[in-house]
Amino acid sequence: MRAENNVVWHRGAVSREDRERRNGHRSAIIWFTGLSNSGKSTVAHAVEEKLFAMGCSTFVFDGDNVRHGLCEDLSFSREHRIENIRRIGHMAKLFVEAGTIAITAFISPFRADRERLRNLVGNRDFIEVYCKCPVEVCEQRDVKGHYRRARAGEIKEFTGISSPYEEPENPDLVIDTSVDTVEECVGMVVSLLNERNILKEMLLSGK
Ligand code: ADX
Repeated sequence: MRAENNVVWHRGAVSREDRERRNGHRSAIIWFTGLSNSGKSTVAHAVEEKLFAMGCSTFVFDGDNVRHGLCEDLSFSREHRIENIRRIGHMAKLFVEAGTIAITAFISPFRADRERLRNLVGNRDFIEVYCKCPVEVCEQRDVKGHYRRARAGEIKEFTGISSPYEEPENPDLVIDTSVDTVEECVGMVVSLLNERNILKEMLLSGK
């Protein structure tokens, strides 16, 4: 529900650009999308580790963590997944204002939601990475036993089994953890950040 109030966005004296200058890199959202067990979290954390070691300001938002707090009231119905992604999108956008490279790892199964986010944060700051791993491989990994329980009908509306996953049509990057190693995937993401000049300041300042 949208609040009908008289709230006006407060702009502080310290701007996003000030923070970016101090950090030595641009801020952005790296939005991983893909099936459960497709490798989103693993690659997201490995990307963070690499960027952090380079001196970047980073933070990972991960489905399994955010659903324990900020979104603990949400289920996996279509409506609640939309709300889940909406909240996380707004939070990640605030992190971009804070000068951070926000890295998110949510199934985010609906194309329209991801497009809405791209429009919210702007093309320049939104990097969509599709973890394209075949559902058979994800199911085989079954780290948490969710696929087995979904097949047995114990978990309803499970993505890839009984709830849809809409593939991105124009992702900024596609990685496949059934083919590429985690290190290779990290390399592809970092190369893309370089191409988009997100780490440019850092390179220039020799940080
Ligand atoms: S999303 O669809 O709203 O983006 P999110 O990424 O937050 O999902 O959470 C996905 C994680 O929740 C999965 O990795 C899995 O561990 C767990 N989960 C529990 N029930 C479901 C379900 N019905 N569908 C998908 N994931 C589920």
